[in-house]
Amino acid sequence: MTETIALIKSLADRYGRTRDALMPILQGVVEEERYLSDVAMTEIARELDIAAAEVYGTATFYSFLDTVPRGKYVIRVCKTITCDMHGKKRVIEKIEDLLKIKLGETTQDKKFTLLTTNCLGWCHKGPVMLINNTPYPDLNEDKVTEIIMEYIRK
Ligand code: FES
Repeated sequence: MTETIALIKSLADRYGRTRDALMPILQGVVEEERYLSDVAMTEIARELDIAAAEVYGTATFYSFLDTVPRGKYVIRVCKTITCDMHGKKRVIEKIEDLLKIKLGETTQDKKFTLLTTNCLGWCHKGPVMLINNTPYPDLNEDKVTEIIMEYIRK
């Protein structure tokens, strides 16, 4: 908790204490702690002198700003139409199979979380997934197996 408070103070020192600093501070906390806890959101509101509801509203509006704990590697498979037509369903099923979790879940060892996301701007190379910030385009069952196995070994 004190670490979270110290982190937010240092992010506010870096990005400022105006409304414009909200987004970079939220991102900074997610980067460091992998999600936004209630403590973090309350502290950001206090630091920027804005309503906690505003912080919460911004955090939940952007699906990339997680408000629940996630795994070390967050896999986000694009669910938008082009990737959908190119077989995102099979890709998701393959990942579920490999990691023994369902969409929306985190593995017991907290290593992986499997989610979907909206269009990532790689439609011409769908299906696409992100693992943390790295995009993996042109997926099929074999390719996704290879990639996930590599992460399992990490
Ligand atoms: S539809 Fe999947 S990246 Fe655009």
